[in-house]
Amino acid sequence: MPRASSDPIPPTIEWGDGLVRLVDQRGLPEDLRFIEAATVEELCRCIAELAVRGAPALGVAGAMGIALASWRGEDLAAAAERIVATRPTAVNLKWGVERALASADPVAEVLEIAAEDVRRNRRLGALGAELLGEGSRVLTHCNTGSLACAGYGTALGVIRAAHESGKHPMVWVGETRPVLQGSRLTAWELDRIGIPATLIVDSAAASLMAAGEVDCVMVGADRIAANGDVANKVGTYSLAVLARHHRIPFYVAAPLSTVDFGCTTGRSIPVERRPPEEVVMTGGRRLAPTGTAVDNRAFDVTPARLVTAIITDDGIAARPYRRSLRALAR
Ligand code: MRU
Repeated sequence: MPRASSDPIPPTIEWGDGLVRLVDQRGLPEDLRFIEAATVEELCRCIAELAVRGAPALGVAGAMGIALASWRGEDLAAAAERIVATRPTAVNLKWGVERALASADPVAEVLEIAAEDVRRNRRLGALGAELLGEGSRVLTHCNTGSLACAGYGTALGVIRAAHESGKHPMVWVGETRPVLQGSRLTAWELDRIGIPATLIVDSAAASLMAAGEVDCVMVGADRIAANGDVANKVGTYSLAVLARHHRIPFYVAAPLSTVDFGCTTGRSIPVERRPPEEVVMTGGRRLAPTGTAVDNRAFDVTPARLVTAIITDDGIAARPYRRSLRALAR
């Protein structure tokens, strides 16, 4: 994978003759370990259990699943169906699977998809960094960094590009209950890159905004509908409502492959429900009485009217998104 050897974050996902090698994100931040998937089943388990996660990384993982099936001489259509079913919200998973399926050489195609993801994220980052002023205090949610992609990151890539261009951004990291992608992964990445960051509990966002300590919110997306409604990690919608109330810009950064023109509005985006254990257990300890009813929807949908701009790899879209996203896709 073409990655500067000086990159402090290792490649999220790599292909090596019939094997997919992943950073096992379940071990972070204490343990930087790797896991290998040699079959579609093993890869699907890695996706379902969040060893690999984040929409663009799932796109690459989906394509690599097809490459694995093709390498092993297995039925590609059955593999595609199995992979796409693992996580329903992130449209990039389906996008990656379809791209590999459409190629005469799925292995060559996955290498290109991974390299292209890093190139596109760097472009998106450079475009988005223009929106940040000197010393911006940026609130982010979940993990949208290198670990969520083949490399570099989307929303975190924007912050990283601003840092690299000498704008000295500072990041408020929302811990992101229940799986804690913010505290486990984003705080880890920012520390490795050397960007100042402060961790907050998710529910502290309102008072920080009220105190005038947030200049903008910058988040990623798992799927963007044709009208600009944005599905992202649960809690994103609350931040958008808060940002509007406090007159703070709310930016979404995502590659165009995250836009699903087949979904006219956010209402048709499927929202993944995850196991209750994620909410009631932590580090082997029970946090709620046995038998407590749990609703663990992993994503929410932010209406387009709350989104200040959508930063893509091909340009920045403004309202009305139905028109601007289409124009960028052309
Ligand atoms: O459940 P996850 O960790 O896969 O959720 C990830 C997110 O919600 C990210 O914000 C989104 O995928 C964009 S990643 C660049």
